[in-house]
Amino acid sequence: MQSELTQQIENKTTLEQLHFLAEKFAGRIAFSTSFGQEDQVITDLIFRNNIPIKVFTLDTGRFFEETYKVWNKTLEKYNKSIYVFFPDKDEVENMVSKKGPYSFYESIDNRKECCNIRKVHPLTKALKGIDLWITGLRAEQSQARTELAFFSFDESFNTTKFNPLKDWSLDKAVDYLKNHQVPYNTLHDKGFISIGCSPCTRAIKKGDDIRAGRWWWEDKSKKECGLHDTVAPDAQTIKVKKI
Ligand code: ADX
Ligand code: SF4
Repeated sequence: MQSELTQQIENKTTLEQLHFLAEKFAGRIAFSTSFGQEDQVITDLIFRNNIPIKVFTLDTGRFFEETYKVWNKTLEKYNKSIYVFFPDKDEVENMVSKKGPYSFYESIDNRKECCNIRKVHPLTKALKGIDLWITGLRAEQSQARTELAFFSFDESFNTTKFNPLKDWSLDKAVDYLKNHQVPYNTLHDKGFISIGCSPCTRAIKKGDDIRAGRWWWEDKSKKECGLHDTVAPDAQTIKVKKI
């Protein structure tokens, strides 16, 4: 059995889905971008078509220079706002004063602490008052994401999550960017596919897992940063609030 929302959108194009949900969740819908290829597809759909969905990013303070550049190019191209959420300065000061600027290489706990401070806590702030959170997750991105559903209820952030590109291939996203002349992160031309913070991301080789360049020093099973810990809940038990 599928949820009511899934039934309402599954025969629509991605663009139609965004229009439909923007109306249904008016003023309570937001899209988070880290300026990756998938995110740039969604940003283009929203901005090009003037869909009233708030676009925001969580600037960890450790982005690549190239990420700031594509962010800026996106602002220039569409002339729309991308809201930014920074980490709490006291939390960052405490962590870096105590442990230095590369504590995340020392242990999983330290890495999770850094991701919590720089991403998870700001996301909690960003999702205040938001009932539908849109992400650029795709099922093909990793083993943990293969069961990705269009909708899931995220207990950690107490909001419903929508993954419009869940069934898109990477090629489809790349073609979309080319065909619509969408700015993209130039690191993608240098072997980077999934891009996060600069000290925690590296290029991958042909045939590697798409996320092999993220936290590459860690065990495969630990590679989620806390934004998407519940990526593949049972679609039958998802809860949707305040529709
Ligand atoms: S992560 O959990 O490993 O960092 P990933 O990089 O695959 O996630 O990105 C998946 C989706 O999470 C993106 O499409 C985007 O919606 C969201 N996301 C990840 N990082 C950020 C960020 N720094 N700011 C805003 N959204 C983000
Ligand atoms: Fe910190 Fe690395 Fe996580 Fe970025 S990805 S928040 S630098 S541990």
